[in-house]
Amino acid sequence: MRERPLHVVVLAAGQGRRMRSALPKPLLPLAGRPLLLHVLEAAEALSPSAIHLVHGRAGGAPLQVVVGDRPGLFWVLQDPPLGTGHAVQAALPSIPGNARVLVLLGDVPTVWPELLRPLVEAEDPLAVLIARPADPGGYGRVLLDGEGRVRAVVEARDAGPEALASPWVNTGIIAASAGELSRWLTRLEPRNAQGEYYLTDVFAMAWAEGRPARAFTTEDPIAGLGVNDAAELASLERAWQRRQAEHLLQQGVRLADPSRFDLRGRLKAGRDVEIDVDVILEGEVELGDGVRIGPFSRLRDCRLAAGSEVLAHCDLEGVVSEGACRIGPFARLRPGTRLAAAVQVGNFVEIKNSALAAGVKANHLSYLGDASIGEGSNIGAGTITCNYDGLSKHRTVIGARAFVGSNCSLVAPITIGEEATIGAGSVLTKDAPAHALTLARAPQRSIPGWRRAARPRRKPLEQREPRSENAEAGKLGDEQSA
Ligand code: UD1
Ligand code: CA
Repeated sequence: MRERPLHVVVLAAGQGRRMRSALPKPLLPLAGRPLLLHVLEAAEALSPSAIHLVHGRAGGAPLQVVVGDRPGLFWVLQDPPLGTGHAVQAALPSIPGNARVLVLLGDVPTVWPELLRPLVEAEDPLAVLIARPADPGGYGRVLLDGEGRVRAVVEARDAGPEALASPWVNTGIIAASAGELSRWLTRLEPRNAQGEYYLTDVFAMAWAEGRPARAFTTEDPIAGLGVNDAAELASLERAWQRRQAEHLLQQGVRLADPSRFDLRGRLKAGRDVEIDVDVILEGEVELGDGVRIGPFSRLRDCRLAAGSEVLAHCDLEGVVSEGACRIGPFARLRPGTRLAAAVQVGNFVEIKNSALAAGVKANHLSYLGDASIGEGSNIGAGTITCNYDGLSKHRTVIGARAFVGSNCSLVAPITIGEEATIGAGSVLTKDAPAHALTLARAPQRSIPGWRRAARPRRKPLEQREPRSENAEAGKLGDEQSA
């Protein structure tokens, strides 16, 4: 094969009106990642000489924030956006005439290198990936001749009965020789329902020149699907999730219900991992052997050691467990939470930026922030580390085998010594020594013979005057305050 550089053109300058979003469409997420990043990653996997990202005036800045600087990526402004053909034309001046050009659409995220390579490597001056979706809807229809060559692509809005009857649609993924493409594009005219310069008009030109485009087909039901409105995005998301779930099942991850599982990132799972229904995993999640995740939980960027168990309704972000722990139900663990082996974190416990050593128990209703808690300590129900003084955050250090009674407030910075016992309900503002009982609360006292003030006797209800002109409301008020 001839040596020819590959230039990828990614079209992302359209306004995506059908999405009705304030966000540029290429930035909407599929499986937790912006559509555009799916496309760019597929492009990068082909090791092209350059990627030309065509953006509109408004989209430039937000796209830049998400895409960032990438080697070999060039930004091309198309202003105003006058159609897909016009968009490709905007990129062509920086593409050498001998290049192979691959056009990808910023709203077609289900593309991967194996799908694209045949088009890139084809010798035909023009090649296109076509698909046969169950509902050809608004896609451009592909007219094929008897030998499967492309006669034309007609947009749905401009299509007559013959074109509409074609089951084949244009995925928008096109490869062409730069020189030919440039020649065809200069001949485009906006004579169509939308008054735009359609990239798809090049197919009829190639056919007329006797060098029709070669069509590559895909059997993959989600490959090359476009995302034009919220409904298409939602259905692609479901299909994508289903596929990821099948893949995990094949690896032996035991998903209770593959249709009630969402992975918005990457999961690395050991053996015998069990995931109950309605679990959402985001970012990078690593689950060791035998980890079990209960229903209705969300984990983001977590690493849980083998044997750890997350019970129902937990929200975990940036959590690392270094040994088998039990978390939840209803625990909220925030970034910087490190749990050693045999830690138990129970219901309505919030932890942030804290390390709990082996065997620590915080089973009920606590807030532990900026704390380090020594091995085997027990944190009683309702205990709070008061880590914030309105200005800065302070640390709480609790030694090994301490026992902090229920409902204590530990005003940081503070240190609780090893094997210290803190009486329930204490508000500690000073360090508590090791091996001692510390109490900081009003001593309990009893006043013998004390009587409650006698209640004045009230008239029976039927003898009372209504309190306001609205007699009904008045009555209600009386009854409630009685
Ligand atoms: C386009 C194709 C259609 C195909 C479908 C596949 C054309 C004329 N139609 O239709 O045949 O079936 O994709 O999904 O090519 N864009 C620009 N600049 C513009 C206009 C669009 O960069 O001036 C970008 C958009 O941001 C989008 C992509 O090009 O990422 C496709 O544009 P869109 O308007 O969504 O085209 P479709 O109507 O979906
Ligand atoms: Ca589209």
